[in-house]
Amino acid sequence: MSTLRLAPAVQGTRILGLGSAQPERVVTNDDLSQVMDTNDQWIRERVGIVERRFGDEKDTVVSMAVEAGSKAIAAAGLAPSDLDTVIVANCTTKKPIPNAAAQVAELIGIKAAGGFDLNAACAGFCYGLGVASDLVRAGSSRRALIIGSEKLSDIVDPTDRSTAIIFADAAGAAVVGPSDEPGIGPVAWGTAGDLVDMIGMTESAHIFQEGQSVFRWATTKIAPIALRAIDLAGLKPSDIDVLIPHQANLRIVEAIAKKLRKEGAREDMVVADDIVYSGNTSSASIPMAMDHMRAAGQIHSGDVALLVGFGAGLSYAGQVVVCP
Ligand code: COA
Repeated sequence: MSTLRLAPAVQGTRILGLGSAQPERVVTNDDLSQVMDTNDQWIRERVGIVERRFGDEKDTVVSMAVEAGSKAIAAAGLAPSDLDTVIVANCTTKKPIPNAAAQVAELIGIKAAGGFDLNAACAGFCYGLGVASDLVRAGSSRRALIIGSEKLSDIVDPTDRSTAIIFADAAGAAVVGPSDEPGIGPVAWGTAGDLVDMIGMTESAHIFQEGQSVFRWATTKIAPIALRAIDLAGLKPSDIDVLIPHQANLRIVEAIAKKLRKEGAREDMVVADDIVYSGNTSSASIPMAMDHMRAAGQIHSGDVALLVGFGAGLSYAGQVVVCP
């Protein structure tokens, strides 16, 4: 019997570069209070958001992904021809056919890329990072671009105060490549399909959520997933320099950090709060927060970061990474 040949595998992978993109239009809480019964103080206290960005006609899942992805490739010191795989995590593209990844690859100039979209809602980036890392490790891809890109303003009812105050538009991207030293830990992922009705789409194609139930779930179930990711990477909570959870609600972020500190995470662990000026951008929030924190000097190359995404599905995924 013939024996099939396998692609040469590599030992480890790491993030080589990061990039992000946001529309220009800033929307403040006061702007929102003009169209719905809400106010700046309530939003700041309950959600932690001061302002967010909404795109206009020219800003699409594809255009923002192209900008973020191009920046990530440049930050990695690479050219588009150095990559062969594009994954676009998203749940807000207006047309599922054609997929965003093929368009993004073409516009960036990654020829004949393996490309596909991935929908795990707000957990999409961490799912995609796990897949990209495994593709490179297995030898199926030389280097992969994983992008979370969302135009949530397209699917939010602009008068629904339970969603319109939270969600926003953006893209965040990472280039994944081989590394002698492992820089992306195993993914801890899963779904809670019994809670499928907590976040979804209405008949009129608007996003809805059971806010309090999602809040309770996120503040009780996500810290254990994060701890599992730390364990899978062979580390302890005290090894984590930076915590970057999905930027869903600042109170959820703070609750996760508090639980991890109870389990041994350090008081000086840096905790992402990008939601304050970016809003909840679903699959874009984690890579964009990481990119903003790097640019602001809050995190440094070699820092050990814990990522954990969660959202509709309900879906969740987390992993430990070394910052580029
Ligand atoms: N502005 C002003 N007041 C508001 C309001 C708004 N946008 N939304 C609700 N309220 C008021 C309610 O009328 C209510 O007033 P009352 O106490 O006088 O009756 C009070 O605030 C509490 O309402 P409730 O619906 O219980 O709000 P909440 O504290 O649960 O906050 C969310 C709502 C949506 C902000 C919160 O549940 C949340 O963030 N959940 C998690 C959602 C999330 O992270 N989703 C993304 C997952 S990826």
